[in-house]
Amino acid sequence: MCGIIGIVAYDGILSEPIGKVLRRCLERLEYRGYDSAGIAVIQNGKLIIRKGKGKIVELSKKLGFDNIHGLVGLGHTRWATHGKPSDENAHPHTDCSKSIAVVHNGIISNFTELREKLEKKGHVFSSETDTEVIPHLVEEFSKSGKSIFEAFKNMLYEIEGTYAIGLISIKESNRIYFARNTSPLIIGIGNGMMMLASDIPAILEFTNRVIVVKDGEYGYVTPNEVYVEYDEKPVDIKDRVKVVMWSLDMASKEGYPHFMLKEIHEQPIALRNTLAGIKIDEIDRICKVLKKVNRIFITGAGTSYHAGLVGDYLFTELCELDVHTFIASEYRKYTRIANENDVLIAISQSGETIDTLVAVREFKKKGCKIIAISNVVESSIPRESNYVIYTRAGPEIGVAATKTFTTQILVLTILAFRYALMNNLITRDEYSSVIQLLNRLPDITHKILEIHEGKCEKLGKEIARKTNAYYLSRGLGVPIAMEGALKLKEIAYIHAEAYPAGESKHGPIALVEHGYPTLFVILDDYYAEIILGNVMEMKSRDAFTIALLPEKYLDKFNKYLDVYFVMPNIDYRLTPIPYIIPLQLIAYYASVSKGLDPDKPRNLAKTVTVE
Ligand code: M6R
Repeated sequence: MCGIIGIVAYDGILSEPIGKVLRRCLERLEYRGYDSAGIAVIQNGKLIIRKGKGKIVELSKKLGFDNIHGLVGLGHTRWATHGKPSDENAHPHTDCSKSIAVVHNGIISNFTELREKLEKKGHVFSSETDTEVIPHLVEEFSKSGKSIFEAFKNMLYEIEGTYAIGLISIKESNRIYFARNTSPLIIGIGNGMMMLASDIPAILEFTNRVIVVKDGEYGYVTPNEVYVEYDEKPVDIKDRVKVVMWSLDMASKEGYPHFMLKEIHEQPIALRNTLAGIKIDEIDRICKVLKKVNRIFITGAGTSYHAGLVGDYLFTELCELDVHTFIASEYRKYTRIANENDVLIAISQSGETIDTLVAVREFKKKGCKIIAISNVVESSIPRESNYVIYTRAGPEIGVAATKTFTTQILVLTILAFRYALMNNLITRDEYSSVIQLLNRLPDITHKILEIHEGKCEKLGKEIARKTNAYYLSRGLGVPIAMEGALKLKEIAYIHAEAYPAGESKHGPIALVEHGYPTLFVILDDYYAEIILGNVMEMKSRDAFTIALLPEKYLDKFNKYLDVYFVMPNIDYRLTPIPYIIPLQLIAYYASVSKGLDPDKPRNLAKTVTVE
């Protein structure tokens, strides 16, 4: 979490003050953290630092970011880990002489010892952050006459933990030093300027040519040079420049009030692009791997975990495979038994979630093959995996995952059906009709948005007045209920719990009273009858009952429902994608009607890079 940006340019290249450019780039990184922000610019040999607690737009007005001129600068938007959100703890941080400025994303795990040592040597700290040891260490090492680069490298030997670092110094004011270990970092290559950033959307206005910095690499950028070392040896980066196909429009709101609403509406195109990008021979190669292994582990965090549960259901029921799905941060339970005859499917839209990355590394140590499903090309998890399938959802800025969820499910569904075909678990005819239906999903999703948005808005407003809700289903609908509940929790701050509907009588129904929202996800014939009983038991306790269901069940359920959404009557194994759409919209409108910002929910960041 936290977003960092750095710019170094020749005179005359930037058409506006560097402070304004840094501010705009930071706004595009704000989804990574937004409790405080700041910028540092070298101006006429002096370091100008402006930083504070609050959102970038307010801080920028208060501190005048837009009027700061210079040719080299850093920016940071923070998600607090060490030290509460405050003006002092906001980045950039400086050394005692205020000649070095640092921005950092990650955690310096040995900062307490380092700080004690530095304080004994007379360094005075002005924040509670772990980051502040970095400028003081560089200051300390450069005392003996070392260049800033040498001092920077010495500092890297001292620190432990995770980091993406940007550092500027008035002693060498035409460059930005950088280093990466685990936290994401890219270099943007412009004309007469170079940029450093945590993520691609921050730099798209200026360039789409990027180099992804790898773990353990460090170096510096000047307006026309990128210099990278690994383990004291220069790294050849000539062939590492990638052209990113995302446009700036893709990373802007395009008239929608929030990124989340735009991204919900982008699902038809995200699904279409993902379908178009699927390489079937690559899928077949992965299916052969799945055939050979003993067990399949699936992991992810939050929404990606829910997509994993959909995959779990399909791989178990349709493919008859032995599947174990776990929340990434709980990987320890399985690393004991995982071995070279197993495979791990790691799902992460960002490809940088630390919990998932750690699980990948631990399973790799046990000899497992790793298959990554990710939306960000060249991010850490794909790079460390043996096989990768990319979703093509485009940049997702809203903290709540929406289009990346549906595209993850699409990829898992294709994988499962392809496996089933290759292993004669379904006929070619069945496979063909599923593929036809998959190709229709973008249109089906579009239709659902058209038909149900108004009703979702009305219901969202009603739910906004509640404090609790249950999301219930059975079978393949359970992960969809879980995802719907997560959306409501994270952006509308309403406590929502999802569980298999059969569990109500084992405890949760005790909470149900007049007007308690109970939302049912009804997908298929197999479970519909039995869910009817669950709806009736809620209604008889005067609950506020809502259901998503195919039209054919409407007559049976109608009299027990307060609100319903008629869903397409399609093969239930393909229903997770259309069914999540109304649940995303309900949460969005509940959030907006409470006056909240769904793009930046409190205490959350888009990419979680701390364990
Ligand atoms: O980038 P990832 O898919 O690995 O992110 C995983 C979770 O942090 C993410 O899905 C999170 O739960 C979202 N806020 C959900 O909307």
